[in-house]
Amino acid sequence: MDIIQAIKERHSVRAYTGKKIEEEKRRKLEEIIEECNEESGLHIQIRYDDPSGFDSRLAHYGKFRNVENYIILAGLSSEDLQEKCGYYGEKIVLEAQMMGLNTCWAALTFNKGNVKKSIPVIEKLVLVIAIGYGENQGKAHKSRSLESVMVTKGKMPDWFHKGAEAALLAPTAMNQQKFKMGIKDGSPVIRVSGKGPYTKIDLGIVK
Ligand SMILES: Cc1cc2nc3c(=O)[nH]c(=O)nc-3n(C[C@H](O)[C@H](O)[C@H](O)COP(=O)(O)O)c2cc1C
Repeated sequence: MDIIQAIKERHSVRAYTGKKIEEEKRRKLEEIIEECNEESGLHIQIRYDDPSGFDSRLAHYGKFRNVENYIILAGLSSEDLQEKCGYYGEKIVLEAQMMGLNTCWAALTFNKGNVKKSIPVIEKLVLVIAIGYGENQGKAHKSRSLESVMVTKGKMPDWFHKGAEAALLAPTAMNQQKFKMGIKDGSPVIRVSGKGPYTKIDLGIVK
């Protein structure tokens, strides 16, 4: 599976089978996370076989079931902390999808108290991603039209069109898709449009 296929096939999955992630895949995920941490300065971690992160009424209310592994996105406070967590988190999500694993981002419906125990007090916990073998593959979200998120009007080059389509397949908090895209001086530009929670994280994901 290539990354374009992974973008198309990825959907949020909240119920997991309990099947353990194999050692080989764990090693691969650790490598990817290490690379992301080096490049970004973030402190991303993965916790295996630890149901405590999604063990709360809020998580069950949010329909999470059998989450035994999760990725923690955290780092020292900075202007771009949220956007970076979105960008690097989605990179890991797509790698996981290519490895046959399912995921779901969670900013709200998880056990924050338990997750915080795994990070140093000086770090800020931004959010987590559930990861494992899903009971199903999830389903495609409703999406805004390409025209409604475009600021550049008229015919667009093929490379841009493909990128814009991929952006509309990306996960955003509550599927809000609050971003606008266009081309400026031959390069793609993308920005948050409108107000909403977690839009900076969404922007990183979409980028
Ligand atoms: C920043 C962010 C925060 C999210 N927080 C939660 C959450 O707390 N609980 C939850 O069930 N889903 C959460 N989601 C998942 C979104 O609801 C989901 O990505 C969106 O509805 C689009 O669906 P899709 O991922 O299947 O394409 C979050 C997604 C993002 C990007």
